[in-house]
Amino acid sequence: MGFLKVLAILVLCAHSTLAIWTLKYMATKYIPSDYINNNERQYQYDQGAANSVAYDPTASYAYVAGNKFVQVVDYSRFIAPNIVHKEKTASQATDIAHCGYIVAWVTRGAKITDPGTLHVWDKYRRNTKRWNNICTGPVGSDPISIKFFDNCQTIVVANKGSAALDPGTGSFIDPEGTISIVRIKKNRQQMQQQRQQPGRGNPNFQGGNNPNNPNFQGGNPNFQGGNNPNFQGGNTPNNPNFQGGNNPNNPNFQGGNNPNFQGGNTPNNPNFQGGNNPNFQGGNPNFQGGNNPTFQPGNNPNFQGGNTPNNPNFQGGNNPNFQGGNNPNFQGGNNPTFQGGNNPTFQGGNQGFPGAGGNPNFPGAGGNPNFPGAGGNPNFPGAGGRPNFPGRRTNFPTTQGTCATQFGHRMTITTVDFRSYNTRTNMPSLYGVRMPYDGSLNANSPRTLSKSLEPSSISEHPSRPDLAVVSLTPNNAVVQITLTEGYEGVSSFSAVGLKPWYNYSLDASSTPAGISFNRGYNIYSLRQPSAIEPFVMRTRWGTEQFLFTADEGATTKYGGGQGDPPRFSDAVPYSRLRQLPQYLPANYSSPRELGQLEMSRVDGLRNPANPNSGYDYVNFFGGRGISMFRFLNDSNLALAWDSQDQIARGVAETFPMVHNSRSFTPDAQSHGPKSQRDLASTQLGAQCKSLAVANVDRDTTLVFVGADGPSVIGIFSVSSNGSFPNFESVYRKSPVPGTFSQLLSQKQMGDIDPAKLVFIPRSATPDKFNYLLVMGKKSGTLSMYRILRESRRNMLNRLRKEASSATSVKRSVSAILFSLIVAAVTYLF
Ligand SMILES: *[C@@H]1O[C@H](CO)[C@@H](O)[C@H](O)[C@H]1NC(C)=O
Ligand SMILES: *[C@@H]1O[C@H](CO)[C@@H](O)[C@H](O)[C@H]1NC(C)=O
Ligand SMILES: *[C@@H]1O[C@H](CO)[C@@H](O)[C@H](O)[C@H]1NC(C)=O
Ligand SMILES: *[C@@H]1O[C@H](CO)[C@@H](O)[C@H](O)[C@H]1NC(C)=O
Repeated sequence: MGFLKVLAILVLCAHSTLAIWTLKYMATKYIPSDYINNNERQYQYDQGAANSVAYDPTASYAYVAGNKFVQVVDYSRFIAPNIVHKEKTASQATDIAHCGYIVAWVTRGAKITDPGTLHVWDKYRRNTKRWNNICTGPVGSDPISIKFFDNCQTIVVANKGSAALDPGTGSFIDPEGTISIVRIKKNRQQMQQQRQQPGRGNPNFQGGNNPNNPNFQGGNPNFQGGNNPNFQGGNTPNNPNFQGGNNPNNPNFQGGNNPNFQGGNTPNNPNFQGGNNPNFQGGNPNFQGGNNPTFQPGNNPNFQGGNTPNNPNFQGGNNPNFQGGNNPNFQGGNNPTFQGGNNPTFQGGNQGFPGAGGNPNFPGAGGNPNFPGAGGNPNFPGAGGRPNFPGRRTNFPTTQGTCATQFGHRMTITTVDFRSYNTRTNMPSLYGVRMPYDGSLNANSPRTLSKSLEPSSISEHPSRPDLAVVSLTPNNAVVQITLTEGYEGVSSFSAVGLKPWYNYSLDASSTPAGISFNRGYNIYSLRQPSAIEPFVMRTRWGTEQFLFTADEGATTKYGGGQGDPPRFSDAVPYSRLRQLPQYLPANYSSPRELGQLEMSRVDGLRNPANPNSGYDYVNFFGGRGISMFRFLNDSNLALAWDSQDQIARGVAETFPMVHNSRSFTPDAQSHGPKSQRDLASTQLGAQCKSLAVANVDRDTTLVFVGADGPSVIGIFSVSSNGSFPNFESVYRKSPVPGTFSQLLSQKQMGDIDPAKLVFIPRSATPDKFNYLLVMGKKSGTLSMYRILRESRRNMLNRLRKEASSATSVKRSVSAILFSLIVAAVTYLF
């Protein structure tokens, strides 16, 4: 090989190693927080326009949950989205999710300590503009997040049970933290009636008379379309709305991937052939469901389940012949003849016993210094017994929801609480699970573990569809919950441990203003994860299962009105901690070092029962990054990787003007992202709170993390060669000078407080690029970013251009004129 050739290859290699994953801004939709006077849209900073978002890629709708409305944003013009519907809510909607034909959200009670409500709706319909409530039911107090399980038939709700002073009486109320397991079922009686009276009970059914298909038998007693509120019927000139498998108006109708389904004639679906199929029978007993997540095998004796590669949640239903076959997630379900042998991950219900051993409160004692509280023998079989050992039924209270009769659903709500652990707080598996509140505000009832636990975010377990994983943010732990009907309950607790900062850079100083990282602090932080996401790493050597955590941090503060100090707080500035360990230098109390950093006063005590006993070690709140935990064979967790200081340093390098900026301000008219710079240094820093795990390439998975404060998106890549995540870049729409209020009225905001991230894969986008949808909670924005790979130098050039064009739009008169024209054009739409 010639010298030049070698050189060229070397240059190519150098170039490709410089390429990094980043984002490119495409469009932002500003969501009104309210509508005043004559339906005029009102945009306000941090007024709950967007608390959460769910995206339905098949119908191209985003559903935005806010304090006053749930709003539907139409993304069929992908970079020119449009709000097409608003639904008033009785109180603030905190989270929203979409699955199959259902959209569901949770609202708080009138007071935060009151029970909340789960709302289950069908999907908004583009052509009829109809949107129907299917069921409503009570959940626990302060519901904060929801997630679908079990093929869209189970909804898990995390109810924080936040404590508060009652504004009326001034008394302190501390509700239980709970998990609601909500099951949405088809009403069997209704199904029977529908069989006898085809079409009745389904007001949207439109099919039936196809003159081209003499064999069409819509009234076939096996036909099940009546259970699908979005089903729109046959391929007939009498039904002008029907458009087949690719019908954008009927996203639940999917038949197209089913090799046996032959369908109708439609110009929009070249593969759809039904009108010419003399055998099409509507209720065809050979129909196999394809990739329709709402498909119910029901009474079809030929259905085999194993042929639904696109529906990993499918569980076989009531089919006695189903054998699990090709579905690695299948867990036996209701099938009495199931034999388990074909399922490599099937575990027969043995959940093992979470790890014990070591002193969880003392970091570094034996084993892994990064993971106090675990270690020991993960397979230890059961000191203290397992309250929910599989095989023993549980008996948590179950209530009924209220369902609209015409859709034929039934809703049950089982509420799992943690009260049975209150007398067993010495259980080894509870080591390291924090109870920050000391009980001082309520003389009548002492603090309890169950009230201290605050369920926060929910994820699926990477291989066990019968388990939900729920973060307990203030408690510095996650809990795994068994969802199996009749066996609901806690499967295991896992403390997520402390992060040692000795080897990482930390800017926790309040002065001088600006960037001042130091290393060598011999202190720890509580990770306190909020968002969590499962991840399966498939390498040449097999699969490993992980949980990513966004280590947001949370202080616990109760009482105290506007401007008053709280009546309880677990946080104090470092300079106020007394009896510190000898190994911490005295000058750490300087504001140039840690002096104003919010520290925990309840963790690291020499004697945990005595607040004046002095400290063995000290902790602040939040990891200012993300972590990755490995699921051990028994489902317990062990720390595998931590992002260290990479996000904070990435912000300081790429967006120094918003380094440790604080997004919270009581005065959005006077403060903006730049003037708030450095104010979060003594609080939660780069406050990592949202996650999206995105498979962008055959070999590459990206982990996106939204960090409040600087309001950046951090990007890490994981390759399937088995190596740990690699930091790629941080991205933020270019920061522009101005107050939050000004930036909002100029629509120059960026996404402030990126509290929700949604990956939209290329298969669901018009230009076949991968996208990330970012919701800015305080800015009330939904932004679409293209995911791309480019050299670091190109990225920096692009960011510079974005910044100068943003600033010039703000300054130049012609640009303002242009934006007025754009505004006028937008208004026309
Ligand atoms: C810091 O890094 C050194 C060298 O890798 C290591 O020996 C030490 O244990 C680390 N300290 C902490 C607290 O992680
Ligand atoms: C604080 O003391 C340590 C040694 O005890 C020293 O390395 C450090 O520079 C001091 N910091 C300041 C701001 O004086
Ligand atoms: C986990 O299970 C696999 C397969 O049964 C076994 O080879 C491995 O040793 C187990 N690992 C641990 C940590 O027990
Ligand atoms: C694995 O892939 C990553 C990213 O492509 C690379 O940085 C790393 O060196 C690879 N590791 C090994 C052991 O091949």
